Amino acid sequence: MTDHSIALIPGDGIGTEVLPAAREVLAAVGKRHGITFAYEQFDWSCERYLRHGAMMPEDGLEQLRRHDAILLGAVGYPGVPDHVSLWGLLIPIRRAFGQYVNLRPIRVFEGLPSPVRAAVPGEVDFVVVRENTEGEYSEIGGRMNRGLPEEMAVQQAVFTRAGVTRVLDFAFRLAEGRGGPLTSATKSNGIVHTMPFWDELVAERSAEYPAVECNQEHIDALAAKFVLDPARFDVVVASNLFGDILSDLAAAVAGGIGIAPSANLDPRGEHPSMFEPVHGSAPDIAGQGVANPIGAIWSAAMMLDHLGHPAAATDITDAIARVLATTPVRTRDLGGVASTAEFTATLLQHL
Ligand code: NAD
Ligand code: IPM
Ligand code: MN
Repeated sequence: MTDHSIALIPGDGIGTEVLPAAREVLAAVGKRHGITFAYEQFDWSCERYLRHGAMMPEDGLEQLRRHDAILLGAVGYPGVPDHVSLWGLLIPIRRAFGQYVNLRPIRVFEGLPSPVRAAVPGEVDFVVVRENTEGEYSEIGGRMNRGLPEEMAVQQAVFTRAGVTRVLDFAFRLAEGRGGPLTSATKSNGIVHTMPFWDELVAERSAEYPAVECNQEHIDALAAKFVLDPARFDVVVASNLFGDILSDLAAAVAGGIGIAPSANLDPRGEHPSMFEPVHGSAPDIAGQGVANPIGAIWSAAMMLDHLGHPAAATDITDAIARVLATTPVRTRDLGGVASTAEFTATLLQHL
């Protein structure tokens, strides 16, 4: 028996609906593989903010630090400004725990037609490596002259040699292992200062990984290529904001953002890593029990893989693939009529 202690943060909206589904699947797969989980659940959310004036307690990060990994639903809900909820919970976790890689895989599954003609099941299988602690998501900047004709907002993007190099190294090593090309998302055509620096560091690191074919694409053209020719990609490395946008786009290409998982990784293993679906709290469908749990369940599989249980992780992704390929059971976002619970029950039968 391997025992893991997991911090559960369902968060807001459909986060509270998809996390129990992930937990059910973890229990089933754990039973088969001799893995048990000791959960500590935290009610950190916008609701908590409205009651206590903070998204999490002051020693929140210390409480999380005790666990092997964090499984999160979604953060943010109408009634609390997003900058409050996100800077009060999600972003501090990513930063305090050095989760500088945000790994976001994309697969087009058999039986789940993509809205994109060029996306053939089995052929599209790539991963976005998103820089997760700096870049455009900086705290440097502000709003000035509110209400005046001179009103303005500025924000400084922060790209450090150390921060970019470490995420590039992760991406190069991943590409080396997968045997595919590495594509760097850039915007170096003279508009911004940061991206030529990013490109220089890509070139520097590329020299250290001669076996990896490395190319770069301007982010605008790259977005188009995600739609027109998604099968050509294997590992795509991008800054924080570019990676955020690309991962929702890629998820849509694969059928919908409800299926996309993510892993916020501290590759050095000093701190707990955090696993969460790519999607948000979806206030428009929250409380109806119809959210697609695939993104959360696949994220739980990524957690198992990270905790050293690759076979158990593959059992979950295989079961997702099998349900999509062999049954018509889908949640509403994928054109079906199944509830979150019905989909999860079907998945459990296919484990
Ligand atoms: P969203 O991902 O919550 O929703 C976008 C659209 O996709 C909605 O129409 C929603 O119904 C649909 N959708 C998303 N996930 C789905 C699922 N699992 N099943 C079915 N449909 C699904 O994005 P948004 O509307 O931009 O953001 C809503 C809130 O979530 C905001 O407060 C935002 O800041 C927050 N957010 C949090 C995270 C996170 O915690 N990591 C990520 C994204 C957004
Ligand atoms: C994500 C989300 C977050 C991000 C938001 C909610 C801050 O969109 O995890 O993709 O941009 O990182
Ligand atoms: Mn996002």
